[in-house]
Amino acid sequence: MPTISQLLSDSIRDVPDFPKPGILFKDISPILSDPALLRHSMNELTATSGGQKIDKVVGIDARGFIFAAPVALNLEAGFVPVRKKGKLPWQTHEMAYSLEYGENIVEIHKDAIQPGESVLLIDDLLATGGTAAAAIKLIKQLDANLVAASFLIELTDLNGRELLGDTPVNAIISY
Ligand code: PRP
Ligand code: MG
Repeated sequence: MPTISQLLSDSIRDVPDFPKPGILFKDISPILSDPALLRHSMNELTATSGGQKIDKVVGIDARGFIFAAPVALNLEAGFVPVRKKGKLPWQTHEMAYSLEYGENIVEIHKDAIQPGESVLLIDDLLATGGTAAAAIKLIKQLDANLVAASFLIELTDLNGRELLGDTPVNAIISY
């Protein structure tokens, strides 16, 4: 019997040269379109809270939202978006970061998390770690207690974990 991680891993579609030549894109669409795999991925990410009380699940724009909102529901926590610049309407903190392909700025609403609240950060993919590191800085700016950062996929060769400091990192699938 394959493990759930193997089932999920086997379902990911490798797309060469997307969105730029030389990049092998990990396409999660086959997981999202399969009800059982979708549920497995949500449940595995939910379990990374380790049973700790979570007040807010933070998801990163855009693919992180797909997983973070259902995980928040599973944990009876609130959902908080970290969004790319210019999308959030209220007062924000912002943080610049470099991506595997390009540069960007992410934002969080200043009142999205109260000081001392326990937070689980979720994204679909940990690659270079730039995106998650920016989100972690924003979460810490709000004086939250970041319990862990959890990803469906980690590309281990890129050493993204090293950018995330002392934050515990979980990945359901590693390549
Ligand atoms: C992708 C992916 C992660 C990030 C990982 O997001 O969803 O958020 O890159 O890369 P890093 O670890 O090198 O920072 P992207 O912004 O490309 O696309 P999305 O809006 O579809 O999530
Ligand atoms: Mg993303």
